[in-house]
Amino acid sequence: MASGKSRSSAGGSGGMLKFFLGFVFAFVVLFVGVFVYFKFGTPPVATADKPFPFEKTIVRIPLDARIDREMQQPPFGTSEDVYETGAMAYKLQCSACHGVPGKDAAFAKGMYPIAPQLWKKHGHGDVVGVSDDEAGETYWKIKNGIRLTGMPSFKGVLSEDQMWDVALLLKHANEQLPDPVVGMLKGQ
Ligand code: HEC
Repeated sequence: MASGKSRSSAGGSGGMLKFFLGFVFAFVVLFVGVFVYFKFGTPPVATADKPFPFEKTIVRIPLDARIDREMQQPPFGTSEDVYETGAMAYKLQCSACHGVPGKDAAFAKGMYPIAPQLWKKHGHGDVVGVSDDEAGETYWKIKNGIRLTGMPSFKGVLSEDQMWDVALLLKHANEQLPDPVVGMLKGQ
């Protein structure tokens, strides 16, 4: 009785074992394939290289999902004061990469991904910079940065209020801003 029982269960686990070994084998082949590609193929590593297929889409999905979950509303509204402190912080911390009205940053296009000019209309219709994004989304990006891009996190560099000032300023980059604010951005 005992031997019969053990034979039948041995047959069952033999099937499982084959399935398991097949699974391990497929995994090893995949791992070796990826390793060989990275070591001996020419995957994109230079900023000037072409992106991986769907690279942008794949990276955007988790970023957008995270921002959707954590997005906050601005704690205050806009005023000339807000724009001015925002412009001061922007000029100091952001303009080297993102440019100012009428002037691009020299190395922005040499980055991968590029640092977008935040004061210009871009590809999608008539939108200037990120003025079509919620201020809360821009605030999240300023506070947390964007991993594996040149976009730093400004937590600890700018105060909470300064980060909101900049986010609100960029939300209104498509409008005619007061002259002193534009002057500060341009460094006049
Ligand atoms: C060292 C360069 C660098 C600095 C400094 C920098 N950024 Fe960025 N930023 C980038 C890059 C590169 C990206 C593009 C990231 C991407 O494509 O995902 C980016 C993306 C962004 C985006 C998202 C743009 C979009 O189209 O969704 C915003 C908003 C932004 N930065 C705001 C700022 C602000 C505000 C500051 C200053 C407080 C700042 N950045 C400072 C390099 C920089």
